[in-house]
Order: sequence, then C-alpha cells, then structure tokens
Amino acid sequence: MKISFAKPASAHEGALVVTVREGRHLGATAQALDTESGGALAKVIAKSKFEGKKDQTLLLHAPAGLKLDRLLLVGIGKGKGFDAKAAQALGGTVVAQLQGSGDAEVTLAADAIEGSSLTAAEIAANAAFGARLRSYRFDRYRTKEKPEDKPSLKKLVISTADHGDAKKAFQPLDAVAEGVFMTRDLASEPANIIYPESLAEQAKTLAEHGIDVEVLGEKQMKKLGMGALLGVGQGSERESQLVVMRWNGGPDDQAPLAFIGKGVTFDTGGISIKPAGGMEDMKWDMGGSAVVIGLMKALALRKAKVNVVGVVGLVENMPSGTAQRPGDVVTTMSGQTVEVINTDAEGRLVLADALWYTQDRFKPQFMIDLATLTGAIIIALGDQYAGLFSNDDKLSDKLIAAGKAVGEGVWRMPVDDPYDKQIKSEIADMMNVGGREGGSITAAMFLKRFVNGVKWAHLDIAGVTWSKKDGPVTPKGATAFGVRLLDRLVADNYEK
Ligand code: BES
Ligand code: MN
Ligand code: ZN
Repeated sequence: MKISFAKPASAHEGALVVTVREGRHLGATAQALDTESGGALAKVIAKSKFEGKKDQTLLLHAPAGLKLDRLLLVGIGKGKGFDAKAAQALGGTVVAQLQGSGDAEVTLAADAIEGSSLTAAEIAANAAFGARLRSYRFDRYRTKEKPEDKPSLKKLVISTADHGDAKKAFQPLDAVAEGVFMTRDLASEPANIIYPESLAEQAKTLAEHGIDVEVLGEKQMKKLGMGALLGVGQGSERESQLVVMRWNGGPDDQAPLAFIGKGVTFDTGGISIKPAGGMEDMKWDMGGSAVVIGLMKALALRKAKVNVVGVVGLVENMPSGTAQRPGDVVTTMSGQTVEVINTDAEGRLVLADALWYTQDRFKPQFMIDLATLTGAIIIALGDQYAGLFSNDDKLSDKLIAAGKAVGEGVWRMPVDDPYDKQIKSEIADMMNVGGREGGSITAAMFLKRFVNGVKWAHLDIAGVTWSKKDGPVTPKGATAFGVRLLDRLVADNYEK
C-alpha cells in the first residue's frame, strides 16, 4: 500500500474517511460534507448508534446528497485524549475497515482535532504510520489466493493543509515501519527457511544501509570459549552463528548502546523435547534477534545520532546423537560453569555468552536483551505486557515511559538475590533451571550472573511476540514488539 500526503481536494469523490468526536461532533471535513448533503449526513448519524466514541465506526455506501462512493466515519472519542497512539489507531482502523472494500484508493481527511495536543500534520503523520503498520501481510507462500481475497486498497492519500510538514514528520516513522516489517518477516518465516546461517545472511543485508555487520561461526566462538551457546547448537546440522551489527551515528568517543537478541531459529526443546502440540510456534523463538535486526534497520534508515551495537546469538535447538544431554556441564565465555538440567531452557544459555561477549568487547552504556525466554511470563503477564527485569531503576523508568508512549507495555518484575539460590547446582556454578516457582525470575537471575557491572535490562517477550488476534496497528501474527519501544527509548533519551 502506497501512502501519500496531499492538500484537501476541492471535490469530495471516491472513498473518504472523516473523523467525528464523541457526542456526534463532526470534524471539519465531516462538517463540509454535511453542508454539501443539505444536512442529510447529520441526519443519518443522528439515526444511528454511532456517537463518535473511540473505536466506533460507521460505513456509508453512496451516501445521500454526496458524490462519494463510500464514506467511513471514525469515532475518535474525546478530543482531549487524542495522542500519537490514537492517531496511529485511526490509521489502523482505516486500513482494517477498507482494505477489502473494493476501493483501490482511499482518502483520509486528517483534520485538526479540538482538544488534542497534536497538530493536524502530526495527526496525519501518525495516522499514516498506523495505516502502514496495519497493512502488513505475510503472503509469500499463498500461491492460490484469489484476487478478490487480496486487499483491494493500493493507495492511501492523507489530506491535510500542512501536507509538507506531515510528510516530514512521517519520514522517521516510515523508517521505523520498515524495521518493524523486517522483524515481522523474519519471525514469520518457517524454520526451514530461516536458520542460523540464513538469518545471518538477512542481517548482512543491513550493510546497504550503512550498518557494519560481522558474522562469527562456530570455530571463532569456540576460540572465544562460548561453550553455553555452542552446546545448544551442537545437536543441529545447522552451524550456530553470532552476528554483530554496528551503527555509528554518534561521536567516535561515545560508548555504544547495546541490544542483544535470543535467536533460537527453532526450539524443539532438544533432548528435553517439547510436546508436539503447538511446537510449530517455536519457529518464532528467534523473535528477540528479529527485533534487534529490525531495530538496527530502523535506526539506520532514520540516521539516528547515536552509536548502537546489536548482537544476536543464532542457534537451532535439536535433539540428535550429537545433542547435549540433561546433566551436561558447559563452560561459558565468562568462565562460569553451568549444569544443563533441562535442554529446553536454552535461551538463557545462548544469552549468557552473547551478553558476556557484548560487554567485554564493547563496554556499552547499557545492555538490553530481548528473548522469548519463558512460558512462565505468559502465565504472569499474558499477551499485553513484556516482562522487564533490570539492575537499574533509571533505565527501567525510561523503558516503561517509552512503552507507554508507543503502546508496547513493559511491566517490571523482580531480580533479587533471594531468588538466586534456586539456580544453585551440586556440581557446577549454577543450573540452567530454577524450578516452577517464579520461572521467569530465575531465568533473569541466570542472565544477571553474566552481567558484569553494566546497566542491564532483560525483556521477556514470549507473550507479546506473536498475536492470535488483530491489534490496532498489528495484524495477527508476528508483532515486532520491541522495535517501536526501543526506537523510542533511543530517540527520547540518547540522541541529544
Ligand atoms: N522458547 C521457550 C519459551 C517460550 C514458550 C516462548 C512459549 C514462546 C512461547 C523457552 O526456550 C523454553 O522452552 N522455556 C522453558 C523453560 C523451562 C524448561 C525452565 C519453559 O518456559 O517452559
Ligand atoms: Mn526452550
Ligand atoms: Zn526457547
């Protein structure tokens, strides 16, 4: 779907979308249409249940007294609460309602909204962003889809008096959408297509946007002593990889921000094998790494004024004659040893070496890791919030604020020493599991042992990486949760 900005047309034709505030208060364009229709529009609205409440819509075909084919009225609630998120949801609603309408082109009248803190240009830009995000489809493998089942909507025109400003404000948002799409594509691909080496190849394509990409294979990781990461991958025919991506948009002497992603391209559980039902979901167990890759792309495309390093540990967790066994002891790059009680608790093993490597090599300002780490976080927080675990209150507060701003919530959970005893081992420095109680917390306690005095936050995104239902700006499927959150964290706090 193409998106463009234009000044309001003199004639209202084709398919048009207008906004209405709660209490049936028509926006400027709706008002003009009502006049043009000789009051017919207000009459229709008055006879309907549509009051302009948030999320209410009313679709009229060939509305009386107008030249329009279709008119979609979108309720925006009380204008006072109409923020960037609401404008994005407006754009999302337009796409959701009209992408299968038969219209190839739709115009959204982005009128100023009384009471809103946003300018009309900001409303237009954010509506465009939401529309773009909602229009995402992963249809590579649907070879038999009939044309009438495909979205008809090819072009969305957003009309606003300040179309120049709107276009400018949309540019960085569009960059973020590109990053989000890359993340969604990678997480949606099946595991026969995306495996450690092919995922590393995908990361390499970021070079064309000015990102420096290095790929380490098993030989190099062995030299570095990454026994935990390599142990997870040793049952797979596919070679494990560690990818380092660098974006240098800041001053040379500025320590980078570091983002680290779990990239288990398929998680069978290994010898501690998972049950068959639902195992196909484990193709997106590389979701954390996909977020880091998409985030790097977004930052590069919008030329973020900051130094950032992204590190992803890519492995496939398979059961085989060469797989690691429950009870095996592995030595991590940090020198600490781990007794692998359960081969299905593999993400923390991958991150242990990736975190240690990152702080050792880059001395970052902070490290934030993302991982579909535990089923327990889904039990605790469901599909709305990611779990946030951190050794730093300020970093946590910044993440929580960024999450609120973009609509990707993070909820802080404890990482306190008393939980640490749950991962004590009889024969090694620690075990890789801590029992059922507080399963997400003991996973975080494990990671914390590989954080050496650096500010650190861990986001357990197991519950938010894949959605079974459509959200305002996220069609069901891969959400790319984390890209917008971390882009915002960087933009609001680290580019000044
Ligand atoms: N990748 C899973 C966690 C997961 C579960 C992600 C469901 C997304 C949806 C992880 O590797 C795992 O298997 N964790 C185990 C840990 C346990 C063995 C301590 C779990 O959560 O059951
Ligand atoms: Mn697992
Ligand atoms: Zn996993």
